[in-house]
Amino acid sequence: MGGMSTTASRSSLRTAIAGVGMIGRVHLDAVRRTGAPVVGVSASTPARAKEAAAALGVERAFDSSQELVTSDDVDVVHICTPNDAHAELAELALRAGKHVVCEKPLTTSAATADALAALAAESGRVAAVPFVYRYHPMAAEARERVRDGRAGDVRLLHGHYLQDWLSLPGDTNWRVDAVAGGPSRAFADIGSHWCDLVEWVTGHRISELTAVTRTLARDGGVPATEDAVQLLFRTDRDATGTLTVSQISPGRKNRLWFEVDGSATSLAFDQENPETLFVGSRGENAAVQRDPAVLSPAAARLSVVPGGHPMGYLDCFAAFVRDVHAAVRENGTGGAFPTFDDAARMVRLTEAVLASAADRSWKEVS
Ligand SMILES: NC(=O)c1ccc[n+]([C@@H]2O[C@H](COP(=O)([O-])OP(=O)(O)OC[C@H]3O[C@@H](n4cnc5c(N)ncnc54)[C@H](O)[C@@H]3O)[C@@H](O)[C@H]2O)c1
Repeated sequence: MGGMSTTASRSSLRTAIAGVGMIGRVHLDAVRRTGAPVVGVSASTPARAKEAAAALGVERAFDSSQELVTSDDVDVVHICTPNDAHAELAELALRAGKHVVCEKPLTTSAATADALAALAAESGRVAAVPFVYRYHPMAAEARERVRDGRAGDVRLLHGHYLQDWLSLPGDTNWRVDAVAGGPSRAFADIGSHWCDLVEWVTGHRISELTAVTRTLARDGGVPATEDAVQLLFRTDRDATGTLTVSQISPGRKNRLWFEVDGSATSLAFDQENPETLFVGSRGENAAVQRDPAVLSPAAARLSVVPGGHPMGYLDCFAAFVRDVHAAVRENGTGGAFPTFDDAARMVRLTEAVLASAADRSWKEVS
């Protein structure tokens, strides 16, 4: 662990980002907001890496992501490539002693995800996955209201995660391809976010599920992965739930919405309107506004501007990176960020969804 103390005592964690498409640029912004330097990037080719480095004001363009994740000049690596490259790069990075932030889905198979989570645990390094919806203050407020008993016993969990950007037969992306994206698309891509968030808010674990999937015929007969999943589930603590996940719901852009119905109150959160939390009761209903003065401490800590100054997705990423850096400085022990273990669980859940849809049965989730 010699490298650990060097890294932990460094005031500026030298960060490098593999893959600077949509989300890699969000990571870059989040890292810069902590004051840490982004020292290098990689892309699909050396030329693209050079272009991206110049455009983003980053000093070094690595010729390959393999070189980036093993470089001696880097403390923390962020893996923001298409899904099929995550496993190899995360393993190389951990073996090279790096702290790793790897995008979800952690890998495209549960066996690989479990092996990677075990390697991360052995390494003593911080190994985090940006299930960042946990960092919305009002989602954290919902969690506190379950934990302190204000919701009562959790009975029902329900909701959806809907997008529309793949709703036409000609719409495409690397995610549609079962190799680059993995065998599951809609569920691995966005259903995993919903399940991680709702499990985190409630402390329940989905223990049994049955699923149906839909897959559109795409132009040119391109074989595609599932566009939508509908799920019925039970949790380990006796709640029941339903979830609809879709990337073919016209007009829905990034509609992650959940409700937790407890014996005392219901709590509903809408990621597209994240400044309020619905609190339903047999008396009056409330739309509790984000105001650090009245929120639980765990939610107030994430509220970096006063109420009435809207926060959002980019702030979630910044808060996530702050927690990751705090954990690095505390030798991997501090913080409550989503880990490789959490992400491996979501990959197991994804496999159970596909298996259930394939043979029309209930599946247990370990
Ligand atoms: N946590 C979240 O909220 C969230 C949101 C969006 C995407 N993601 C995840 O982030 C990853 C990237 O998604 P995206 O939306 O940014 O996709 P994207 O297509 O916008 O960007 C991916 C980039 O990686 C590049 N690339 C391909 N192979 C590479 C390699 N070997 N090394 C370096 N770069 C390579 C591509 O050319 C592209 O520029 C996916 O795994 C996705 O699931 C997570």
